[in-house]
Amino acid sequence: MFILPKNVTIIEVGPRDGLQNEKNHVGEEEKLEFIHLLQSAGIKEMELTSFVSPKWVPQMADAKNIVEKAKKIGRQFVLAPNEKGADLAIEAGAENIAVFVGVSNTFNKKNINRTTIESMNSLELVIAKLKSDGIFVRACISTAFYCPYEGKIEIEEVSKLCSRFISMGVDELSVADTIGMANPMESYELFNRLKDLFPDVLLTAHFHDTRKMAIANIFAAMQAGVNRFDTSAGGLGGCPFAPGATGNVATEDVVHMLHSLGIETGIDVEKICEAVGMIAPHVSHPIETGMYKLYKNRSS
Ligand code: HMG
Ligand code: MG
Repeated sequence: MFILPKNVTIIEVGPRDGLQNEKNHVGEEEKLEFIHLLQSAGIKEMELTSFVSPKWVPQMADAKNIVEKAKKIGRQFVLAPNEKGADLAIEAGAENIAVFVGVSNTFNKKNINRTTIESMNSLELVIAKLKSDGIFVRACISTAFYCPYEGKIEIEEVSKLCSRFISMGVDELSVADTIGMANPMESYELFNRLKDLFPDVLLTAHFHDTRKMAIANIFAAMQAGVNRFDTSAGGLGGCPFAPGATGNVATEDVVHMLHSLGIETGIDVEKICEAVGMIAPHVSHPIETGMYKLYKNRSS
């Protein structure tokens, strides 16, 4: 029989991953309303924004105001690629920080203008300081399956990076299929290996849904014992520096699947759809996730 957890934690990444690559400028007020509706739907862990260069990612230029004004509910993350980002995040009052690195060197250079090793070496000091200040640190690991520039990534390379992050003292690993290319077998193999190697680490899976395999990949990751998933309301998302990275797997569709399997999330699908309905007019493309379409048809 299938291995199914009793509970799954959803980490909502819509306000960050969902909006960072959005063509339309989304205003601060709209972002905050979106965040607050997601919180009302039961989201307890969320990536709010990122402290990155506004020249590189203009959509996240309001990070400071978002952190200062968002209601403090549960564990809220902000992304920081380097010391400057971490300092700005702490100054704004962030209590949980997500650092990020690509397994693939070429992707990492395109994304944060450093090789993977350069990023890891400088993050060592950043993480040590954050941990001594009592900050929860999540490490996001991009291109863990495929890189848009280098192709297939070996499990060994991913596990080496995870191991180094663990030795630096991070609290969580979020391992990502950045361009949505993994299949369920690959999802099972990687997460099974990571669970074997690092049984005590908080392990999260982050799937983009480019080829509509993300839900199947989540199911496969659950077979390997994973019970934390990054998802994005409305299926919004994508990294500006990873060609082919379309939206993340949709929160409403994942939560619906989990509930239909008898797995608890503490999240109200209808209310997630309300949040999607709120943000939909502010993004540049129609939102057509399964559960949101049903919700729209019912409410029209
Ligand atoms: P750089 O040009 O190499 O930076 O960019 P630098 O250190 O040479 O500094 C240049 C200027 O940027 C300086 O300002 C710095 O102060 C400033 P100037 O003197 O020219 O006025 N600067 C910063 N400003 C604000 N915040 C900072 C910061 N750092 C330096 N943190 C940098 C390097 C990392 C800044 C740049 O490459 C960058 O911002 N990249 C953004 C990458 C990004 O946001 N990608 C998307 C998120 S990752 C993702 O989506 C993947 C994930 O979802 C998982 C998955 O799906 O794979 C997590
Ligand atoms: Mg992502």
